Amino acid sequence: MKNVKDLQVEGKVVLVRVDFNVPQKNGVISDNNRIVAALPTIKELLSKNAKVVLMSHLGKIKHKEAPEVVEAQKAKNNMAPVSVELAKLLPGVNVKFCPATRGEELKNSVASLNNGEVLLVQNTRYEKGEEKNDPELSKEWASLCDAFVMDAFGSAHRAHASTYGVPEILKAEGKQTAIGFLVEKEVVALKRVVDVPAENHPYIAILGGFKVSDKIKVIESLLKKCDKIIIGGAMAYTFQKALGKNIGDSPFEPDFVDYAKRMYESGKILLPVDAVVANDFENPTDIQVLDEIPAGYQGMDIGPKTRELYKAEIAKAKTVFWNGPMGVFERDEFTAGTVAVCSACAELKGAFTVIGGGDSASAAKKLGFKEKFSHVSTGGGASLEMIENDGHLPGIDVIGE
Ligand code: 3PG
Repeated sequence: MKNVKDLQVEGKVVLVRVDFNVPQKNGVISDNNRIVAALPTIKELLSKNAKVVLMSHLGKIKHKEAPEVVEAQKAKNNMAPVSVELAKLLPGVNVKFCPATRGEELKNSVASLNNGEVLLVQNTRYEKGEEKNDPELSKEWASLCDAFVMDAFGSAHRAHASTYGVPEILKAEGKQTAIGFLVEKEVVALKRVVDVPAENHPYIAILGGFKVSDKIKVIESLLKKCDKIIIGGAMAYTFQKALGKNIGDSPFEPDFVDYAKRMYESGKILLPVDAVVANDFENPTDIQVLDEIPAGYQGMDIGPKTRELYKAEIAKAKTVFWNGPMGVFERDEFTAGTVAVCSACAELKGAFTVIGGGDSASAAKKLGFKEKFSHVSTGGGASLEMIENDGHLPGIDVIGE
């Protein structure tokens, strides 16, 4: 696949789709990891003396809502603070921001760029055509540039205008399209958990998080690839309900109980044997460790017996893919399960260990284990879909050879 380093772009406008969907509140960015991860590609283009135009989405904007709701969502997801953060990370580079997402203002901002300058465009989701891959919008954005680089790994599972429509048009016009360094790094790492040769087994997947329904496709795919799937987080309660266990007031998905039972019958799924439970999610005043959860309590984390069981299983692994925390790790009383899984992966010698983005990446960072993993993906949804689709994602496949 053509890489950003192969492009001839001196003096040319290069549109780079990045994933700057970073956590931010009132303009304060709490984790700039995704911006930092895009820097090698941006710097490569600057070293080639290109004019770099960056596009990304930020948060969700529901265009079907009432106009005042949409306006509030736009205000909440304004990309301007991201350009300030980017400028800090690129000292000596002129980083400009364009508040418009189409029309004359955007066209003029791009036209006034000098070689070696960067322009960050307002949130692509301000446009309702973005998520619909609207052809007119794609055409307008494609007309702004001479070349396109896909470096938004976290958004590569979305076939939107900025991730799919634009490169599709540019390719048809014979213009240069390429992947960036971040996408390259992610694909190389994630392919190692998509196709796992016999010598790299046992392959253990660790899945946590809230819902079974979010993970159906990946569970089905992982059952074909893995030796064991370790389940934690709230999704475990749907499995336990399916096995007739008491789960008290823990959340579960009634519509997925039969599905969970079928998956469990594969013999590859490992479930918690005890739990740290609490009387109240928001204000837990009574915390206990129990094998089954009585009414009036809900599970908040995997229990000590489960931790030992999971650690022993992980210790056998040569390949690990982990997505989703084991419990409510944000609260100190309920981090032990996630810490146990993290440290078991960190202690593995010679194994290939991957965190599939999202909350597990935040948990590993918060708990100080991030550096111990072979790869921490910047894309939660994208890394899951990469496994589900046997290594394919629309935003990467569209770039072609
Ligand atoms: C993510 O955070 O997973 C990516 O940026 C994609 O965001 P989305 O789920 O809103 O498309």
